[in-house]
Amino acid sequence: MADSPDAPFIAANQAQWDERAALHLESTFYDVDGWLRNERGPKSWEVQALGDVTGLRLLHLQCHFGLDTLAWARAGATVTGLDFSPVAIAAAADIAERAGLSGRASFVCAGIDEAIAALNGARFHVTCTTIGSLCWLPSIERWAEVVAATLVSGGRLYLHDVHPVAWSMAEEDFRLTETYFEEAEPWVDDSPGTYTDANRPRQVQRSYEWNHSLGEIITALIRHGLRITALTEHDWTLWSRWPWLIPGAEGKWSVPTDMPRVPLSFTLLAERT
Ligand SMILES: C[S@@+](CC[C@H](N)C(=O)[O-])C[C@H]1O[C@@H](n2cnc3c(N)ncnc32)[C@H](O)[C@@H]1O
Repeated sequence: MADSPDAPFIAANQAQWDERAALHLESTFYDVDGWLRNERGPKSWEVQALGDVTGLRLLHLQCHFGLDTLAWARAGATVTGLDFSPVAIAAAADIAERAGLSGRASFVCAGIDEAIAALNGARFHVTCTTIGSLCWLPSIERWAEVVAATLVSGGRLYLHDVHPVAWSMAEEDFRLTETYFEEAEPWVDDSPGTYTDANRPRQVQRSYEWNHSLGEIITALIRHGLRITALTEHDWTLWSRWPWLIPGAEGKWSVPTDMPRVPLSFTLLAERT
């Protein structure tokens, strides 16, 4: 990775994510104390997608500080979370301890490019990537390679992320202003705040992101030996990306009924052949 032309972008993103992880830990959006108190497990659509995970080994790529990862441990899986932010990974291990889940949870600090080596070739029954993740990766091909290399034969991928059409839309409205496809050049994002606290200023302002079209994601997975079993596009997402989105149950934000229904997130399930 050090020799890659993307290395400076990834290093800048990591610095930003270290700062954001610290801010997010204090946020009402993640509400870590509430999560610990309420013993929240996986969300209803996650349970619907993966069913009973008791006894399964589950890997969560780009796990942030592990709330979604640990929710699966609460549901009976043995979980591993991986993220490149040491701040996020240290917090995840601490939360696991406080939740009494550390016997069934481990966390690895590594970038996606280093994931296969960092996991020592370990294989899992389920590999997950959840919302807000793929846009930080320059190459969807590389991510698909990691997914394939971390699954046992017959193992499943659960991907829920922002729809690439939604990433193409302007910050202010539904106009398409950004590329829909993966490009070598990243988007440069200088927007202040973060999705948990729009008004909280950050020291590390600039980040670099990449879009990946649905076709690119699916083709990369097929090329790496995965069989797509479901693809669902949703008119909801998990944060108030635009001020007119309507909040609903379990953190969903949907398009109001008097506006065109556009895809805001998607879920993809696949099986390693
Ligand atoms: C929006 S957060 C994901 C939130 C997640 N859905 C959750 O469970 O809360 C994106 C995460 O990706 C991580 N990340 C970004 N680029 C990465 C990379 N190249 N390798 C590994 N982790 C990365 C960040 O540190 C951050 O924790």
